[in-house]
Amino acid sequence: MTTAPQDRFVVRGGARLAGEVTVAGAKNSVLKQLAATLLAPGRSVLSNVPDISDVVIMGDLLRSLGASVSCDPAAGTVTVDVPDTIGDVAEYDLVRRIRGSFVVLGPLLARRGRARVGMPGGDAIGSRQIDLHLAGMARLGAEVSVEHGYVVAEAGALVGAPIWLDIPSVMATENILLAAVLAKGTTVIDNAAREPEVGDLADMLVAMGAQIDGIGSSTLTVEGVQALRPVEHRTVPDRIVAGTFAIGAVMTRGDVTIRGARAQHLDMPLAKLVEAGATVDVGTDGFRVSIADRPRAVDVSTLYYPGFPTDLQPPAIALQAVADGSSMLTENVFDGRFAFVDEMVRLGADLHVAGHHVMVRGRHQLSSAPVQVSDIRAGAALILAGLVADGVTEVYDTGHVDRGYACFDAQLRSLGADVTRT
Ligand code: EPU
Repeated sequence: MTTAPQDRFVVRGGARLAGEVTVAGAKNSVLKQLAATLLAPGRSVLSNVPDISDVVIMGDLLRSLGASVSCDPAAGTVTVDVPDTIGDVAEYDLVRRIRGSFVVLGPLLARRGRARVGMPGGDAIGSRQIDLHLAGMARLGAEVSVEHGYVVAEAGALVGAPIWLDIPSVMATENILLAAVLAKGTTVIDNAAREPEVGDLADMLVAMGAQIDGIGSSTLTVEGVQALRPVEHRTVPDRIVAGTFAIGAVMTRGDVTIRGARAQHLDMPLAKLVEAGATVDVGTDGFRVSIADRPRAVDVSTLYYPGFPTDLQPPAIALQAVADGSSMLTENVFDGRFAFVDEMVRLGADLHVAGHHVMVRGRHQLSSAPVQVSDIRAGAALILAGLVADGVTEVYDTGHVDRGYACFDAQLRSLGADVTRT
């Protein structure tokens, strides 16, 4: 996978998405699973890995910690060979590029008793604190400080403890889990995140020999073990990529079968699409979304899983922008996730932001324009918006999209869209 920051997608509007696409594993699972391999010396193999740039960056981070990493994008596998002794410093230059990388804190602390991890970067979608991660490590007995842009944590030995999360943060839950599996005694994480990617990480840890109860619930009980073994694990399908195609199908009045996806991980978004007038047929290996008429406007409010995912909020706004009627979109997870709304307005969308709400008045069609991508999901939304605009929309800075969507342009083309990359 190679990308250049000046890459752009050229989208000619008017096509109806129809046909079949297959989704690979979830970005937000595989990045944490790569970090989890550090917990056990030896060879671990992940499969169903998406061909996205975030995986490449995470691979570089693992290499900087002493692991050998080989990716086979065609087979969708990543093989990680972890030495007996791993490094304990995650350099800022790598960690700043993707937020998912910050979950190496837990494994490094568990394996080395100390860690120095650059403060994380990631998308510009609002303030993204790490206080819950740090408080969790402190509860497990680590001394934690922030020095010159690095989180520095030291612990003679980690000791299990009850931990209550103020917010069911996905990565705080994961970081604590990754440390607690090798801590001495019992850790109970209360108000844990219930996202399928958290459950997938916990399943992988159990296959490595960890003892975790309550997987999929908001209370995770971890009985620490002395050592873990390497594993072969198949990553759960990406529900956000699947949801993006489903929304694209409805926006373009199309008919798309999404293979490899799990409808049960998208209950809320699919219910909203049905409310908008779509038909959803769930099969054994995915689901089909179709609609003949213009979708109806529906209100959407994002929330932690099983609520409507914040990562599908930008595509949902793109859908409402061409729906029949007015709707209210409410963002409850991130405080800066409406930054891309100005770009949607450049495409002629009738949107008005008021605090954490956006009022949308649906239009029959958008109007093509050059637009700029600010984060992964905003990028996907702007490309979908280009499909329902008259003329040619140029979407700049596609590197963001490549972080989370494998060959998005090729997949859309396979569904009949006129999308090219220059
Ligand atoms: N929060 C705190 N303190 C913390 C941690 C989080 O206040 O210590 C707050 C955040 O500011 C936010 C809320 O808690 O308001 C939820 O954030 P969370 O920690 O759950 O998000 P995250 O773990 O940083 C992951 C995904 C995001 C996804 C969110 C929510 C990864 C690498 N990222 O982020 O994915 O939006 O969960 O589901 O797993 C994306 O893929 O495009 C993406 C942004």
